Amino acid sequence: MSTEIIQKENITSEKEVNDSIIETKNSEKSQLANQGHTNSLEKYRFFIFSYGAFFLIILILCIIALIITGARPCVHTKCHENAKCINHPFYAECICDYGFPGNGRDHCDECGITYYKNNADEDGQRANPYSWPATAIIEYTYTALVKLEASRVLLYDQGMCGGVLINRKHILTSANCIKEQIETYDYISGNLIKINVTLNNFHPSLDSIYNIYMGTDEYVYYFADLPHVVVEDFDKVIIHPEYNRKTLENNLAILKLNNEADLNRYVQITCLPNATSSNIPDVYMGHNSLYIAGYSSSGSSYTTYAMQNLILDMYNTSMCSTVQPNNTKNWDGQFCAGEYNTYGNTSGVCHGDYGSALYTPYEVNGIIKYVTTGILSYDVPCSTLHSPAVYTRISYYLDWILENTKY
Ligand SMILES: *[C@@H]1O[C@H](CO)[C@@H](O)[C@H](O)[C@H]1NC(C)=O
Ligand SMILES: *[C@@H]1O[C@H](CO)[C@@H](O)[C@H](O)[C@H]1NC(C)=O
Ligand SMILES: *[C@@H]1O[C@H](CO)[C@@H](O)[C@H](O)[C@H]1NC(C)=O
Ligand SMILES: *[C@@H]1O[C@H](CO)[C@@H](O)[C@H](O)[C@H]1NC(C)=O
Ligand SMILES: *[C@@H]1O[C@H](CO)[C@@H](O)[C@H](O)[C@H]1NC(C)=O
Repeated sequence: MSTEIIQKENITSEKEVNDSIIETKNSEKSQLANQGHTNSLEKYRFFIFSYGAFFLIILILCIIALIITGARPCVHTKCHENAKCINHPFYAECICDYGFPGNGRDHCDECGITYYKNNADEDGQRANPYSWPATAIIEYTYTALVKLEASRVLLYDQGMCGGVLINRKHILTSANCIKEQIETYDYISGNLIKINVTLNNFHPSLDSIYNIYMGTDEYVYYFADLPHVVVEDFDKVIIHPEYNRKTLENNLAILKLNNEADLNRYVQITCLPNATSSNIPDVYMGHNSLYIAGYSSSGSSYTTYAMQNLILDMYNTSMCSTVQPNNTKNWDGQFCAGEYNTYGNTSGVCHGDYGSALYTPYEVNGIIKYVTTGILSYDVPCSTLHSPAVYTRISYYLDWILENTKY
């Protein structure tokens, strides 16, 4: 029994020896294999290092290029000669210099150019033709089929306003020139019906409600003024977000034209106040400091269709206390002006068209030009003593205007 056990033990030990030999052989083999592996690894390392370094350099260069284009995109942006380039993260903005409105890239047009001298005076008179070439006529015509209690009625409404071209793509006017509602009586029920002015079958687009005319000396008979009168279309209205239709505070709107207006002897761009003139016009300017032009302004008749112009007086705010007294005033964003020599007994000094520009002579880049400082907001009936009226103060809204007239 015991020998058997020993033998078995021996056998086991022999086996162990054998196994260990095999193990040694195996380990030799694997060492050999390891040696071969190490050789190719070094080769790979070489490739990895050289190619890796190469790609790393490319990557770093790309990142640097990206940072340069990202942080300083103006490096490879070409702005107009009258524009500055502003770096934004990943995009460059071309901003035209003051006095040169435009898109900053293709054009920055000198503002306030006129080819015909104005002849405005205190009493108001027929304007020298084309002497206010930034003036726009905004004509409104609206038709709607309205269902009343007992019938259907075809409603028709029309009106006109002024506006002023502030760059090739935008016209500034008052928000109350953009009709929101029309009213009519239902004669059967006696009710006042208010209809919202919305697009309908008669008016599939804004263009079909409004016509904009520029470069004309005559309203209504503008066709006599061919060929330089132009009809502009627009596809977007931006009304000041804080416009209050009840009190007419923040009464401003911007019309975005479909096409860039062509500038010529009859159509030009007005100047706006500059950023440093924050509160103009001001009362210290007193009398005879403001100019207004329009197709129903001044003179002896409201029904004239030829352009009139008039010199107005800057007023203190108390002069406007009788102008629609229920309308809350915010004199930061408004000012009061009128024609002091209107005694209230004349047959009709008027201010002009709502939405039309009021101009003040100011220095623009060293040259005195007519700068649009106000937009006629609301007034008193024609022939009222001193004919005061409330204007929207453009300098107060300059940031909003510039922000919303980029193109
Ligand atoms: C008309 O417009 C007003 C204000 O935008 C709105 O509250 C009202 O519901 C509109 N009426 C109709 C009939 O669409
Ligand atoms: C405002 O102007 C009018 C007319 O010039 C003047 O009579 C009035 O005293 C002025 N009011 C104030 C408060 O300055
Ligand atoms: C102005 O408000 C007063 C008081 O609320 C009112 O009696 C008057 O009719 C209003 N005037 C106008 C023109 O709305
Ligand atoms: C209007 O009134 C003023 C001041 O009372 C007077 O001087 C002027 O002669 C009057 N004008 C007319 C046309 O009646
Ligand atoms: C800005 O406006 C003020 C006041 O009109 C004027 O004195 C100044 O020269 C203007 N600046 C430029 C650059 O036109």
